[in-house]
Amino acid sequence: MTTTRRATAADLPFLEEVFGIAADWNPEAVKGAEFWHADPTFQKYLAGFPRDTDLGFIAEREGQDAGAVWSRYFTAADPGYGFVAEDIPELSIGVVAGRRGEGIGRALLNAMLAASPVSLSLSVEDGNPALELYRKSGFVPVGRVGDATTMLYTRRSD
Ligand SMILES: CC(C)(COP(=O)(O)OP(=O)(O)OC[C@H]1O[C@@H](n2cnc3c(N)ncnc32)[C@H](O)[C@@H]1OP(=O)(O)O)[C@@H](O)C(=O)NCCC(=O)NCCS
Repeated sequence: MTTTRRATAADLPFLEEVFGIAADWNPEAVKGAEFWHADPTFQKYLAGFPRDTDLGFIAEREGQDAGAVWSRYFTAADPGYGFVAEDIPELSIGVVAGRRGEGIGRALLNAMLAASPVSLSLSVEDGNPALELYRKSGFVPVGRVGDATTMLYTRRSD
């Protein structure tokens, strides 16, 4: 059974692992945890987690952390990969290698969409099958940056 819970500061090491998972989604272009830990984007997405405006969830399977999703606000001056606007946080998600295709990513996304009071954006590179999960969950393409699509989930207030 998959359970989801709110991510706390104690989960930062696991979120760091998941950042590497998401960044290295393509098995033919893996840079590795060491590379990502040294990369400035790593700090940008995770430094000080959880900030007051961060929102994150951990999925557990059989008592083990199996995946994570979190959202963070960025600025136009220092945007994330999937930046749309300063009032729309960007989502990051990943599931550990041995646990993919078991519904954990969908459970994480559902938890995030149920809890987030605002719209959410993300960036997905060409060829990543995760795009299909996002599309089925209501994200729509709104732009292109390099070889990635920016997608937006619009939170309706009605
Ligand atoms: C993307 C990811 C978070 C999805 O989590 P998951 O637990 O594997 O996905 P789920 O089992 O919940 O599958 C949900 C949907 O995702 C899609 N999907 C996920 N992986 C897929 C794959 N390898 N091939 C095709 N579709 C896939 C399917 O549409 C699936 O829907 P279905 O069950 O109706 O077929 C996970 O596979 C992962 O961590 N991948 C590597 C990192 C990554 O790509 N992160 C996102 C960067 S933008």
